[in-house]
Amino acid sequence: MSILSPSILAADAMNLQRDLTDTALQGAKWLHIDVMDGLFVPNLSFGYTTVQGIRRFSDLVLDVHLMIEKPIRYVEHFCKAGADYLTIHVEADSPENTKAAIEKIRAMGVKPGIVVKPKTPAEAIAQYIPMVDMVLVMTVEPGFGGQKFMADMMPKVKKLRQMIDEMNPACYLEVDGGVDLENAGICKENGANVLVAGSAFYKAADKKAFVAQIEQD
Ligand code: DX5
Ligand code: ZN
Repeated sequence: MSILSPSILAADAMNLQRDLTDTALQGAKWLHIDVMDGLFVPNLSFGYTTVQGIRRFSDLVLDVHLMIEKPIRYVEHFCKAGADYLTIHVEADSPENTKAAIEKIRAMGVKPGIVVKPKTPAEAIAQYIPMVDMVLVMTVEPGFGGQKFMADMMPKVKKLRQMIDEMNPACYLEVDGGVDLENAGICKENGANVLVAGSAFYKAADKKAFVAQIEQD
């Protein structure tokens, strides 16, 4: 069973509440929230007060993706704001701080995740796999929605699926960036079981069918 995590970055910023209600009505169970700091990636997006607002309003599983430098500075804020999954980039800090941030997230009762940019190899996160509930493979350079899916990330997804099966089989394997109904199949074949979709989901004419097609195995 796969899970769709619609990326709210592609929703209408002036109508987040309307779009959130609709996302749940269409059958989605998760919501992907991209947090950007203008340093780790050349863009800005939501902060923890937005996560807090969404949490008060919605029962969706909040899958928060931090694209920020030294995430350890802010993980407590995002945990308190109501994230269910909180995912940090391996490239964003030293191994010591990355480990400490994961431990902090866990201690606050939130599920930690670790994410790799396209140029970062699978081996870079090997040591964190036993500590996390989610591994995320970027299938675009992080920073913007609406980019083209990088099919050449599939060998890395496959490799991480093997590593997860050996080290922590309950850990989710998520893909993020350019995912649509056409490439969802190869993501799943290579072992991903959580698929983020922003533009493709929010532009879909039939969102209910979109959720069903992604979540069928
Ligand atoms: C990119 C973000 C993605 C983005 C996905 O930096 O991490 O979550 O919102 O959007 P689409 O599906 O449009 O590529
Ligand atoms: Zn994301």
